[in-house]
Amino acid sequence: MALIKAINERRRGQPGAPAKGHGGRVRAQDVTIAFDTPGHRNVAVEATSLDIAAGEFVCLLGPSGCGKSTLMNAVAGFVQPSAGRLTVDGQAVSRPGPERGMVFQQHSLFPWKTVLRNVMFGPLMAGAGEVEAESTARTFLNMVGLEGFAGHYPMTLSGGMQQRVGIARALANYPSVLLMDEPFGALDAQTRGMMQESLLKLWDEFETTVLFVTHDIDEAVFLADRVLVMSAAPGRIIADLPVDLPRPRDTEVMLLAEFMQVKKQCMDLIRQESLVAFEQQRLRLAAGQ
Ligand SMILES: Nc1ncnc2c1ncn2[C@@H]1O[C@H](COP(=O)(O)OP(=O)(O)OP(=O)(O)O)[C@@H](O)[C@H]1O
Ligand SMILES: [Mg+2]
Repeated sequence: MALIKAINERRRGQPGAPAKGHGGRVRAQDVTIAFDTPGHRNVAVEATSLDIAAGEFVCLLGPSGCGKSTLMNAVAGFVQPSAGRLTVDGQAVSRPGPERGMVFQQHSLFPWKTVLRNVMFGPLMAGAGEVEAESTARTFLNMVGLEGFAGHYPMTLSGGMQQRVGIARALANYPSVLLMDEPFGALDAQTRGMMQESLLKLWDEFETTVLFVTHDIDEAVFLADRVLVMSAAPGRIIADLPVDLPRPRDTEVMLLAEFMQVKKQCMDLIRQESLVAFEQQRLRLAAGQ
């Protein structure tokens, strides 16, 4: 999309701008996130550090309940760390902001607004006029292949189409970081595969940082520059696996030895941590927590 390329090039041309895209370096230094209830402290994320470069695509894997969503919500600014430092482009994260776009597992569109109005929402909130907001919204609807559905209401679209509108809505704020929490988890296998490929195309075009949570190991290895694996609760990052597969990628890369090798490492770690997580849940239940 020429407009997006132009935006990216303009931003790159600014003094001090990062080499790729328009910022989006995410750093966590010894971040602990605990939820306190009377008489009980639930440490969801423990002394976790990560450093995601601007424009990098990082997937986060880990057993259920290990703190993936909590860590992502902290980057989004919905949850505050109890200790440690969390920054995006050197700025401490203290609240949600348009530069950090979020896409959830279940589509979270406004059902009373048309597709176009849903995507216009962010630009309007950011102070754009009607004409500019509509033009931005149409650009991003075009990017996700849904320009023909601008006047439809979300409930008339399939789950996959609604997720694409959700992605367009997040991108319309020009985020430097796109946070995706199991965004394709509710989709059928064929739609999921198509969404993965189209997300990689969008990412290549938009040059944003992506932090992507999934339970699907194939999905993580297919998409990522790097896969981070979290331990059972309290969540810590126990593996940082680079994925040196060529780009652009299509499903053929899943047949390469490098893919299998990273997949196997992830499978072994997830199996081991899931066993720990199941045992923890059994003990918590037994203790009546
Ligand atoms: N708002 C909250 N208040 C209290 N506890 C919370 C809150 N959010 C998460 N937790 C707890 O933090 C821990 C981690 O939860 P989180 O949702 O981050 O896990 P997850 O890795 O995303 O799991 P899943 O794979 O099932 O989505 C859990 O013990 C959960 O109960
Ligand atoms: Mg989660």
